[in-house]
Amino acid sequence: MRFKFLPSFVKRKGRITSKQSKYLKYLSEFSICDLSDLKNFSNGFNKYSLEVGFGNAENIQAEALNNPDTLFVGSEVYVSGIGSLIAFIKENDIKNIRIFADDIRLLLDNEAIEIFDSVKIICPDPWPKEKHHKRRLINSSFIQMLQCFMKKDSILYISTDWKNYADSISEILKGSIFFKPSSNYFIPRTQLSKFERMGEIEGRQIFEFNYEKVS
Ligand SMILES: C[S@@+](CC[C@H](N)C(=O)[O-])C[C@H]1O[C@@H](n2cnc3c(N)ncnc32)[C@H](O)[C@@H]1O
Repeated sequence: MRFKFLPSFVKRKGRITSKQSKYLKYLSEFSICDLSDLKNFSNGFNKYSLEVGFGNAENIQAEALNNPDTLFVGSEVYVSGIGSLIAFIKENDIKNIRIFADDIRLLLDNEAIEIFDSVKIICPDPWPKEKHHKRRLINSSFIQMLQCFMKKDSILYISTDWKNYADSISEILKGSIFFKPSSNYFIPRTQLSKFERMGEIEGRQIFEFNYEKVS
């Protein structure tokens, strides 16, 4: 199963701090293996949101604090970021975050459940060299897979600071029968992410996509 997909990430271990290492031991308290597990946590939540590749977890943390009625699922393979998110959950007694600590495609390669009201992918790995474009997470088959887990009228938000990835995402979304650009909704972003900040410092523009699932 793991080798069904080309890796869309380079598994960065990063430096794991003693705090992250301490909190990583609690991962099983917050992790999900299957989206049907969410039913066990659904009490009191009226919305579900997915963030793919949450990195150092700044965005998911801010959103979970601001939206206590929404259950946030964060998917990431970057162990240091997962440790930071668990530390935040434990230290702030956060009830509305669950973690899928693996390739999101393994979670979605299952029976469809139209569960998410919003999905965010902030700065997916750009794989800027042409020979690596095939490793990019956002492609037609991923979008097809993802839409199976999104409710009708739900929002898909993607940002990237790489122009040729933005062009490709734009083509993929325009060609999808499942999505249309959304003018009615905008998913508020509280801050730029670490990778967006780096992109700006390096002089790149940030491109944003805000689409709505139509069927
Ligand atoms: C460029 S970083 C962006 C991190 C963060 N969103 C930000 O903007 O600061 C992309 C992140 O996506 C994660 N990622 C890439 N492919 C993934 C996949 N298939 N499933 C889950 N996470 C993935 C990587 O581990 C990495 O942390």
